[in-house]
Amino acid sequence: MTVTLITGANKGIGFETAKQLLELGHVVYIGARDVERGEKAAAALGARFVQLDVTDDVSVSSALATIDSAEGRLDVLVNNAGILGNEFLDGPTALRVFDTNAVGVVRVTEAALPLLRKSSNPVVVTVSSSLGSFWAVNNPDRPEFNVPLALYSASKSAATMLTVQYAKSQPGIKFNALEPGTTATDMTAAFGIGRPVEESARTVVRLATLDADGPTGTLQDETGELRW
Ligand SMILES: NC(=O)c1ccc[n+]([C@@H]2O[C@H](COP(=O)([O-])OP(=O)(O)OC[C@H]3O[C@@H](n4cnc5c(N)ncnc54)[C@H](OP(=O)(O)O)[C@@H]3O)[C@@H](O)[C@H]2O)c1
Repeated sequence: MTVTLITGANKGIGFETAKQLLELGHVVYIGARDVERGEKAAAALGARFVQLDVTDDVSVSSALATIDSAEGRLDVLVNNAGILGNEFLDGPTALRVFDTNAVGVVRVTEAALPLLRKSSNPVVVTVSSSLGSFWAVNNPDRPEFNVPLALYSASKSAATMLTVQYAKSQPGIKFNALEPGTTATDMTAAFGIGRPVEESARTVVRLATLDADGPTGTLQDETGELRW
């Protein structure tokens, strides 16, 4: 059985990824910051639940301790939790966005590393964004060129760079980041855009189910590798 933890999995792309990985036979832990929302999602899917707020060190370490005592290892970590944080462009908002989208990746990954090292095929997938790609936001032919989400984009650049750095420093573990495709979730609801979560979660699932000889240190979308 493959043991998988997905952060921010009570809804959206994380929830759908949980659903698809459960169908493939994974033991899935839904990480959610809100106990009620998390338990409800886990019950709906037949998954397990851990309270996990990616901005809270105590919450993160106790979630991983719970998985350690129940499973003794972790095979797949999906860093999915994220916020848009486009309300203001100021210091407090920047701290909140970076805390969730970038520092959260460090908190959860660091807490998960000892469990991942006990897996025979450890994989970390970070749901980043092509809005964090310097190539995409500077390319007038790409939709990212016209999206002025400074804090979100910068925090996703950091999440992608963390993926590259972890891939280098942890050669026994595969680390890949991805752009899921613009998806209709609560995050994009105000813009009325995006495709169904079922399609976008497929890329997360593909990277979460890599063979031992799969790639590491890449940024991908559904078509394959994306430029930085
Ligand atoms: N939708 C898109 O078009 C798109 C495109 C590119 C990348 N992405 C990325 O895809 C990921 C999932 O987003 P989504 O579209 O599925 O949005 P969503 O429906 O808003 O889901 C975001 C999830 O993250 C959780 N979350 C937020 N802050 C958290 C925290 N501090 N600790 C734990 N969980 C937290 C939310 O929990 P609550 O319910 O408690 O708020 C929710 O479960 C994000 O990283 C996003 O940046 C999305």
